[in-house]
Amino acid sequence: MASLAELAAEAAACTACRLASGRTTVVFGTGSPTAELVLVGEGPGAEEDRQGLPFVGRSGQLLDRLLAEELGLSRDSVYICNVTKCRPPNNRDPLPDEIAACRHFLDGQLACIAPRVVVTLGNFATRTLLERAEGISHLRGQSYPFGGARLVPTFHPAAALRGGPTVVAQMRADLVRAKRELAAGAPAPA
Ligand code: URA
Repeated sequence: MASLAELAAEAAACTACRLASGRTTVVFGTGSPTAELVLVGEGPGAEEDRQGLPFVGRSGQLLDRLLAEELGLSRDSVYICNVTKCRPPNNRDPLPDEIAACRHFLDGQLACIAPRVVVTLGNFATRTLLERAEGISHLRGQSYPFGGARLVPTFHPAAALRGGPTVVAQMRADLVRAKRELAAGAPAPA
């Protein structure tokens, strides 16, 4: 199995889909390689493409705040990545063939890190990993088996920024669910 570093090096040189031609940087992922919690977004935005790091724009600031407030976790103690590692032009949705071309990187990241809980942020990450066609409003509110882990779908933070307090509250509730899942699988204290 390829290591995270090997996968990152492969991604940095990847030209498997049309997104390669428009990118500034490949946004592979960031955080702890032994994280118990992995968060998966859609694809890099403009700021992420510039910095080479996921969720560093406005959505990322909200995500960082909710992680700290609901889980007491910093971005360094979790792992954050996206379904596509290159920015779709003008922030359009990633296309099915782009998601398929990038899929082995996400699968490889999850295999290397082997988290106990995966939080999917929005429709693309949720549909991709759950292999379901329904939208996030329908799929959120519960957790799902995901290999040896649990998958907790929630809204994309950009949707929470657009949707206001009601959507933010739902996102908070989903993160509390993720916290419960982390606690449920933890070894009993000695
Ligand atoms: N939106 C995403 O889905 N991912 C990012 O990294 C930034 C914004």
